[in-house]
Amino acid sequence: MLPANRDGWEKSWEFGVTPWDLGKPTPVIEHLVRSGTLPKGRALVPGCGMGYDVVALASPERFVVGLDISDMAVKKAKQWSSSVPNADYFTFLVEDFFKWTPDEQFDLIFDYTFFSALDPSLRVYWAEAVNRLLKPDGELLTLIYLISDQEGGPPYNNTVADYQRVLKPVGFRAVLMEDNELAVKPRKGWEKLGRWKRCAHQSSL
Ligand SMILES: C[S@@+](CC[C@H](N)C(=O)[O-])C[C@H]1O[C@@H](n2cnc3c(N)ncnc32)[C@H](O)[C@@H]1O
Repeated sequence: MLPANRDGWEKSWEFGVTPWDLGKPTPVIEHLVRSGTLPKGRALVPGCGMGYDVVALASPERFVVGLDISDMAVKKAKQWSSSVPNADYFTFLVEDFFKWTPDEQFDLIFDYTFFSALDPSLRVYWAEAVNRLLKPDGELLTLIYLISDQEGGPPYNNTVADYQRVLKPVGFRAVLMEDNELAVKPRKGWEKLGRWKRCAHQSSL
């Protein structure tokens, strides 16, 4: 397995070169939280950056772990979120998603602009880590930012098929794949919401 590029990410955070950062939770996460359809229990947001989505997901029913390889990202996430009303229901950790071995698995994993930030050679390991970290009946939620015009990366080109290619071998099927109508303006029309479970039956998606 290739080493994760910790230094590159650390530099981005130190110099404030974070063009992916929305400065707020992605609206579809707030919508899904309100809808009450997301698994409760324990949730994980790998490559969480500033952690807006971590805080949006956290509640007395759902404890959320925000994970980032960058010390600076986690420092900044902790700084802004330390006194929010739901601060007891989340934590931020500096860890490499590929190497981290928590004591307990998760009911929900949410990926947004993490998969697409990884060198494509790491995608198969990303799927293995998701499989290892998610409970047997857990849900993987992917907000897929479709990219097709990049030479190199990050972010790297990615499609729904790229997720399917690595998730299918570890037993995941999309139970839902739809356009994200709530995407922020510059990303409108370029985002797909995918909800994945380990399914015995074959999905047509
Ligand atoms: C493109 S940013 C996305 C941040 C956040 N999800 C968002 O949408 O604002 C990717 C993040 O993944 C983190 N990262 C990269 N490799 C990682 C790894 N192996 N383990 C954990 N975090 C990692 C980076 O430090 C960076 O904060």
